[in-house]
Amino acid sequence: MTTALITGATSGIGAAFARRLARDGHDVVLVARDAERLRRNATELHDRHGIEASVLAADLATDEGIASVEERLGDRRHPVDLLVNNAGFGHRGRYLEVPVEDELRMLKVHCEAVLRLTSAAAEVMRERGRGGVVNVASVAAFLPRGTYGASKAWVVQFTQGAARDLGRSGVRLMALCPGFVRTEFHRRAGMAAENVPGWMWLDADRVVDTAMTDLARGKSLSIPDPRYKALMGIARLAPRGLVGRASSTTGRFSPR
Ligand SMILES: NC(=O)c1ccc[n+]([C@@H]2O[C@H](COP(=O)([O-])OP(=O)(O)OC[C@H]3O[C@@H](n4cnc5c(N)ncnc54)[C@H](OP(=O)(O)O)[C@@H]3O)[C@@H](O)[C@H]2O)c1
Repeated sequence: MTTALITGATSGIGAAFARRLARDGHDVVLVARDAERLRRNATELHDRHGIEASVLAADLATDEGIASVEERLGDRRHPVDLLVNNAGFGHRGRYLEVPVEDELRMLKVHCEAVLRLTSAAAEVMRERGRGGVVNVASVAAFLPRGTYGASKAWVVQFTQGAARDLGRSGVRLMALCPGFVRTEFHRRAGMAAENVPGWMWLDADRVVDTAMTDLARGKSLSIPDPRYKALMGIARLAPRGLVGRASSTTGRFSPR
């Protein structure tokens, strides 16, 4: 029996990872702040799939929260085989409209927590000669999109660099870069995402299925859906100013 630990498992992409991994027969450890919601998800996964589902309530914007998950990942008697660093959030405002404390909180959750949890997990995985880490970034990593895009660019660079460094260790690391996914993300951030065209929306379960296939193939970067692969190809070739304008007005600044 293998164990997967998923952060941000109360809703959206994290909950979809938990469903998929439980269905595949993995025990799961669900991490987020809302303990009650995590317990409901864990009970449902246990009842439906007969796996062990445990809950670890932690705020990854705090040192104590990160440390409690590091401790679980470092437990060599109950090793974690797959870590999914997925917890995250967006801000609605442009630069200087978002308080600096909120930007720092984002860097703590998107970068510091990802670095510390990946390192805690990868250490044990390297000793065991096997394991996997999926770090959820975004296509925003490839676009000029404030601290959000910058933090996700860090996730991609860090993950691909670590994947190369641990190349012969049996530990696989992959950055997952979805486009717009129907989750609680935009509502929580107070973004009215109505100006995002319908064809741009992805389904969280499908995103996760693609991620699992790409991880099994040994990829270090996964961009689910051919539409976004094509868009990112165009974005790489298009003038930077044009890409920036399109990125900053799509699903970000429209009124509540
Ligand atoms: N939706 C999109 O369009 C999209 C696109 C590309 C990438 N992503 C990325 O996908 C990841 C998941 O987002 P989602 O779309 O699934 O959004 P979501 O439905 O809002 O889920 C976010 C999850 O993160 C958890 N979380 C937020 N802050 C946390 C904190 N301080 N400590 C611990 N857990 C925290 C939330 O749980 P609690 O509130 O219970 O803590 C929730 O489970 C994020 O990293 C996001 O940047 C999303």
